[in-house]
Amino acid sequence: MSVDDIERVAVLGAGNMGHGITEVVAIAGYDVVMRDIEQEIVDEGYEDIQWSLEKLSEKGLVDEDADDVMARIDTEVDLETAVEDVDLVIEAAPEQMELKKEIYGELTDFTPEDAILASNTSSLSITEIATATDKPDKVVGMHFFNPPVKMDLVEVIYGEETSDETAETVYDFVESIDKTPIYVRKDVNGFVVNSVLGPFGDEAGWMVSADEATIREADATMVHERGYPMGPFELGDLTGIDIGYHVRKEAGKPVPPIVEEKVEADELGQKTGKGYYDYEDGDGADYG
Ligand code: 3HC
Repeated sequence: MSVDDIERVAVLGAGNMGHGITEVVAIAGYDVVMRDIEQEIVDEGYEDIQWSLEKLSEKGLVDEDADDVMARIDTEVDLETAVEDVDLVIEAAPEQMELKKEIYGELTDFTPEDAILASNTSSLSITEIATATDKPDKVVGMHFFNPPVKMDLVEVIYGEETSDETAETVYDFVESIDKTPIYVRKDVNGFVVNSVLGPFGDEAGWMVSADEATIREADATMVHERGYPMGPFELGDLTGIDIGYHVRKEAGKPVPPIVEEKVEADELGQKTGKGYYDYEDGDGADYG
């Protein structure tokens, strides 16, 4: 299969990553079906895409009317119906290996033989995910960054059994949706970006947990001295504090107490209205 054979795409997951990826794929002109396990989650994701497309249209950042882009998006709850006639699946399910394996087992039965199965996992092993299928050569990592409509890079990760044909097709597909792909040829935990970004967030977490810096001080330092678009805590609020927490847990890494506290309090960042910063009653991530 080459990128020219890809016409219809399924995105599994309608959360932040799933609906953002769906939007990007639809903007590029592909037919796409967004699937999640409950209608309410799918509907919320669909509304988020509508909101985002309207914003992008107002700013002249998409060429078409938002309605024309939305017309290419179907929604679905039933997995088999979602994937039975697609050429590419982009899976953006929660970061739990057993859950992913269950999904890939079902995808083996439900997808056309040639369909490529790409995982948006942040850090789980592509090689291990692929053991749940009988076509590991067609399983590949396709790691987007949050928010997908704004972030340019996509990592294309080889599992041990991924074929060159699969990786090259996905690489070309990433270019076709106007993003910049890079190959990650070793299936290492965290791939490239999160291997570098993880210690950055962790170090800030340990410092704040030990009262060596405040959240605002740590964020301000990275923005004003390093020129990053946001500091590690604001970034945690954007991506979801639970995401980083589960990534660390799955990798058997220690979790800074400040992260544990936020997860226990269900203060997970922007999506819950409160995380390291307060987005409802406070000033949000205002660190000057
Ligand atoms: N769609 C459309 N518009 C959006 C939007 C979306 N999804 N999200 C925000 N906007 C809008 C806002 O409403 C605001 O609109 P306004 O101008 O009308 O008020 C505007 O975009 C925001 O613009 P800003 O000037 O505040 O922000 P920028 O657009 O310049 O940058 C950013 C935003 C791209 C998020 C930038 O802050 C950034 O790059 N942050 C770092 C993000 C990052 O590092 N992500 C990677 C995280 S790691 C990861 O994802 C890995 C995974 O495995 C966990």
